Amino acid sequence: MHKKRVIANWKMNGSQTEIVAMLSALQKDNKLLNQIEVSLCPPAVFLSSMKNLCASLPISWGAQNVSDQEDGALTGEISAKMLVEVGCRYALVGHSERRLYYGEDNEWVARKWLAARSKDLIPVLCVGESLAQREQGDTLSVVKEQLNAVLERTHSTQFAHTVIAYEPVWAIGTGLTPTQNEILEVHMALREHLVKQYDKALSQTVALLYGGSVKGENAAQLLNLENVDGGLIGGASLKYDTFAPILRALV
Ligand code: PGA
Repeated sequence: MHKKRVIANWKMNGSQTEIVAMLSALQKDNKLLNQIEVSLCPPAVFLSSMKNLCASLPISWGAQNVSDQEDGALTGEISAKMLVEVGCRYALVGHSERRLYYGEDNEWVARKWLAARSKDLIPVLCVGESLAQREQGDTLSVVKEQLNAVLERTHSTQFAHTVIAYEPVWAIGTGLTPTQNEILEVHMALREHLVKQYDKALSQTVALLYGGSVKGENAAQLLNLENVDGGLIGGASLKYDTFAPILRALV
């Protein structure tokens, strides 16, 4: 069994002051933080201050995005090596907002995944279906295709100990969530897919997170299911008062 992981995705929200406020509030939950692996993904401009801010806390941090290239004339991009330099543990890749608003397709996401992994970041591969795809019964084929784009380009030792986040697009920021059975079905399919691709032992090293409208009220139901190793939390992770109940639901 993995320690449960909770990754807070702040998206384009928050400020330095709010990060400091969150960390000092979490400080009093040190016991909780030792039982759950908590990671914060603030906007990229704040990443370089995380090392100092988290010095006395068992909290890691990560980037919301990473370039697929190592370096060069690529205005606005941030490389995996730079993220490692500021102490990042994780890099989200293929979040549905990036796929949807910035045109990231499966191949591009796979290149980002490889760029992150090659520099010892743990990629958090986000997969998930749209509402139309769910209604057409395509959920499992969509998430497997998103996963296969990476699996085709990697090998078992690279894929071990990484993270996949199942985030149905229609559940992100909407207050809607899948039923427990729907989450169980997708997570089991992802795990079995990894068993088929590699083997059971390797599949168990991969953490499968659920994300999409998780809050204190539903965290216990959604994140304690079989094959669910934790959560990727957006809106509810921005304030301690809404974030802490999610952590408490997991111990
Ligand atoms: P949400 O976002 O918790 O606000 O639905 C989750 C995510 O996009 O990672």
